[in-house]
Amino acid sequence: MNDSFHARWGESNEIMKKKGTWKTLRHLEGPMAARSPMENHGEVVILSSNNYLGLSNHPDVVAASKTALDRYGAGTASVRFICGTFTIHRELEEELARFSRTEAAISYVSCWTANTGAIPLLAGEGDIIVSDELNHASIIDGIRLSKAGRKIYSHSDMASLEEKLKQAAAERAPGGSILVITDGVFSMEGDLARLPGIVELARRYDAAVMVDDSHGTGVTGPHGRGTIEHYGLEGEIDVVTSTLGKALGGAAGGYVASSRAVIDALIQSSRPQIFSNALPASVAAGALEAVHLLERDPAILARLRENIRLLRNGLKKMGFNPLEGESAIIPIIVGKTAFAIDMSARLLEKGVFVTGFGFPVVPEGTARIRVQASAALSAANIDKALEAFAEVGREAGLIN
Ligand SMILES: Cc1ncc(COP(=O)(O)O)c(C=O)c1O
Repeated sequence: MNDSFHARWGESNEIMKKKGTWKTLRHLEGPMAARSPMENHGEVVILSSNNYLGLSNHPDVVAASKTALDRYGAGTASVRFICGTFTIHRELEEELARFSRTEAAISYVSCWTANTGAIPLLAGEGDIIVSDELNHASIIDGIRLSKAGRKIYSHSDMASLEEKLKQAAAERAPGGSILVITDGVFSMEGDLARLPGIVELARRYDAAVMVDDSHGTGVTGPHGRGTIEHYGLEGEIDVVTSTLGKALGGAAGGYVASSRAVIDALIQSSRPQIFSNALPASVAAGALEAVHLLERDPAILARLRENIRLLRNGLKKMGFNPLEGESAIIPIIVGKTAFAIDMSARLLEKGVFVTGFGFPVVPEGTARIRVQASAALSAANIDKALEAFAEVGREAGLIN
């Protein structure tokens, strides 16, 4: 053991603890649901999961996963192109392509892997990536892995996007592409990307558009097909990435949906496809069932929409001022990181599990409590949560 190496990390951890920015892992003792038992805290109402449709513990999703576990076993024990591709992968991918209204789709073990595996391949040397400044960390890391040039535009600012596109058009290599990348729903703000404006500008400057709709899939759009459906832009976006780890069952997994040509290129050359194991069959089957459930039971999406409304209106009525948006993410800006973490701890004492986010996840001074709605929540769960918010908000001096 190299003592000084470990001591260095111990010291840096102590600094975070002193600053009040240390994150404590909370252990759930039951499934992700509206309420779950938390070690040392008893039953808590969960307002901080991405279990938007409440399918993480849905009996049909669990049953589909169990059936696949029995049929295919625990894991693939291989990467896709050697011998790790099972028929359930094809079934899932065909369904995801249909759901996304694209020619084809390919799964990854997470959306993180999808973004970091697809971006460096789809934009390389001589190409230019144009990215929203608030894009998710997995997009940022995907861009870091790419040899393409990069331009960052101000968040959802179409004038800034146009300026960067003009520069990209002048700077790209002959025959090089421009790829605009944006979140569909921004995970810390809860706002939707301005896709109609983005698509229009991309057309004008001969750019392709890639949308990561991890927080939109299963949430936005008339049928829950996401932000692209919300804007009526299905078939107009060049590359869609999303997660299976949020609304669609919440286990794990991600995917890219695009033209057959793009998906074939990813199968051939995207590094995680070639050098990392495929999604476990049980997870693929659970996600497939989640897509089917979303389509056959519209009441699930209607419940989510109603719960978003109840939470947002309830918080506003008591004097909080959440950021506006149409997604299931309702952020309340509280200022300092330590304040957000302390507020989240106080809410937990009152039986409500909601996370405070601060630096470096969001810029210093804009720390926030991020409330996330779920179709799983009952009206009683929401009432209990709002009562806790009223008490803690008053104690913290945020509301009267
Ligand atoms: C916009 C966005 N993209 C990608 C991811 C990563 O998803 P996964 O958990 O499937 O890796 C997240 C997760 O927080 C996200 O919010």
